[in-house]
Amino acid sequence: MQRLNIDLGERSYEIILGSDVLTKVGESLSKVLQPSRVVLVTHPVLFQLYGDKILPGFKDQGWALDVIEVPEGETSKTLKQAEIIYDRLLDLKCDRKSVLIAFGGGVIGDLVGFVAATFQRGIPFVQVPTTLLSQVDSSVGGKTAVNHPKGKNIIGAFYQPRLVAADLDTLQSLPKEEFRAGLAEVIKYGVIYDATLFDYLEQNTEKIMRLEKECLMHIIKTSCSIKAEVVEKDERESHYRMILNFGHTLGHAIEALTGYSKFIHGEAVAIGMVYAAKLSHQLGKCPQEIPERIMELVKKCGLPVDLPDLDPQLIIESLYHDKKTINNKIKFILVKGIGKIEIINDISEGDIRKLLQKTI
Ligand code: GLY
Repeated sequence: MQRLNIDLGERSYEIILGSDVLTKVGESLSKVLQPSRVVLVTHPVLFQLYGDKILPGFKDQGWALDVIEVPEGETSKTLKQAEIIYDRLLDLKCDRKSVLIAFGGGVIGDLVGFVAATFQRGIPFVQVPTTLLSQVDSSVGGKTAVNHPKGKNIIGAFYQPRLVAADLDTLQSLPKEEFRAGLAEVIKYGVIYDATLFDYLEQNTEKIMRLEKECLMHIIKTSCSIKAEVVEKDERESHYRMILNFGHTLGHAIEALTGYSKFIHGEAVAIGMVYAAKLSHQLGKCPQEIPERIMELVKKCGLPVDLPDLDPQLIIESLYHDKKTINNKIKFILVKGIGKIEIINDISEGDIRKLLQKTI
């Protein structure tokens, strides 16, 4: 088992990574907190697959334990679902010493984190991410949210977990497209921060796709360390943390305009990264070789690289709704070289139109 620290003063916590971590969550949590009650929130399929592994560790500590199941999928990330959980927590007489365990992928992590941030003005929670995307990105750094009919993650809070426990074994049961989608976020870390990670991904793609444990450990640990370093510098995304949104500006627009049904998040981010790199070249920030290398790796990981057929005007309007957009100015994270990034505050509509017509 490997350990990483995320250093945020009194909000610091540990990320534990490895095989068979599920059986050790209770013991690891006991070193951080002595809860009055533990409530595990998950979805039925995961509970069936791994309930037997994770529950005994809490029982061994002698803690009162309850399980709340929520339906799988993005449609559960709503205020309505949060309210259902609040009701259950009240029925269970949870108090401020109760701990929530978010056991699942990004949807469960964001939803449970949001409930933890708001129930009785905040109770502790633990992230136990089970997808590649949540292990390398959403479980670390304290972004919690539910969706609003008008947009994704519109209602939320920065609220850090007390522990993150990622069991790499859960990736074996993850659908292949979900695994590939998670790889998009790993590629992102290579592009924005770590040319060595990018090289490693290029050289080890097949082994990674075969879920070889050593490779998984390497890419997940490296991704979490990068995320920790970025969040330590700018926890509440006043500026620098935005680099983590490389590929997401266009990615979010693609997701929204295709009704959140044609592409899963990582796939939309993959296309968004390729186009952000093309825009970087178009604006003279990097040589042509950079978007080509990114596109090749994205393709090799089985991810899409082409924009779907969408009206450029609708894409531009959608970019203005991005949470990073302030004072009606489109922000873009551009790449200057692998591992080197620049945040540009004022991309013109003309440049976006030119980009949307481009092929390389
Ligand atoms: N997923 C981007 C961030 O946590 O800032």
